[in-house]
Amino acid sequence: MALRTATATIDFTALINNVAVIKQQAPQSKVLAVLKANAYGHGLERIAKALSDESTPVDAFGVARLDEALALRASGIIKPIVLLEGFFDPSDLAILASNNLQTIVHNDAQLKALCSAQLDKPLKVWLKIDTGMHRLGINPNEFSHFYQQLSTSANVDKSITLMSHLACADDTQNDSTNEQVVLFNEITDSFGDCRSMANSAGILAWPQSHYQWVRPGLMLYGVSPMQAEHGLIQIQPVMTLQSSVIATRKLSKGECVGYGATWQSTEDTTIGVIAIGYGDGYPRHAKNGTPVLLNNRLVSLVGRVSMDMITVDLGANTDDKVGDIATLWGKGLPIEEVAQWATTIPYELLCNITRRVQMEIK
Ligand SMILES: Cc1ncc(COP(=O)(O)O)c(C=O)c1O
Repeated sequence: MALRTATATIDFTALINNVAVIKQQAPQSKVLAVLKANAYGHGLERIAKALSDESTPVDAFGVARLDEALALRASGIIKPIVLLEGFFDPSDLAILASNNLQTIVHNDAQLKALCSAQLDKPLKVWLKIDTGMHRLGINPNEFSHFYQQLSTSANVDKSITLMSHLACADDTQNDSTNEQVVLFNEITDSFGDCRSMANSAGILAWPQSHYQWVRPGLMLYGVSPMQAEHGLIQIQPVMTLQSSVIATRKLSKGECVGYGATWQSTEDTTIGVIAIGYGDGYPRHAKNGTPVLLNNRLVSLVGRVSMDMITVDLGANTDDKVGDIATLWGKGLPIEEVAQWATTIPYELLCNITRRVQMEIK
């Protein structure tokens, strides 16, 4: 008997397809593929290598932390890498220079540290402007000062990329995206042959935000960033998460299942136990009714999610058996749907995949 434990299958063909969709949507733009948080749970080095292939038109990678960038360099990745939160400590600057890493500058402390550092060679800089997200970025009225300081510093490469980030691009009815674009244009128009604004939702729904660089994350992994259905999406899920049925059990009407006995059967039925739980990253808050794909049909999660197991209602007359493979999300079962049942977002589900989940390449 060989049962499959929780396994995430990573489909490179889907990944390459998604890059092609991004290029169709934003044909004039270069692509910075966002690989932070272990490439949204898909495996940092593995995804970077797949996207470093010459046939893949990705131009740069974006990560959140220096460690992520250094892991990419250590694994032989030579494409440009941008630190999307910039450097955290002035002592990082020499490491950036020696590893050919690019940095965002979003605050005064970074500006001062960069301009006063002793560097062997200038760094490529992305200047981040806050146009309405109010998270990272300099205020519009600080732009002239920052631009002047950066463009005259010997530590800064002469071609500075100007960037901003969209707050509500996933909602096509929300006009604040247009307002952000208008403000970004006002600030940067006379400096602007190298600009960047669009995340996945911007790529799909807001062509006016494309500029010279787009920065897809979620869409790259085949997941929709939009709040509502979007007809243009031909992306395919890169990760399919599966595990085996490890037990089945007959339940009489009125019997309960799992910790806290939170679910009670309303009729005689069969329960399937699947070897995946919150210890693997399956969301503990998934509600009764969350779909699971088993033997070409959707069955419902019932009872609490445990650390290593979930229970599903298979119905009274079932042929499902130990060893059958259940899909938790991916091909055949959109992660977007599962996220709704767990009152979260696909980003969180993907990032929460834990180390004990086996990774298989398709
Ligand atoms: C600066 C920046 N650009 C692009 C992205 C990619 O966003 P998404 O995954 O929605 O495409 C992120 C992710 O949060 C980000 O922080």
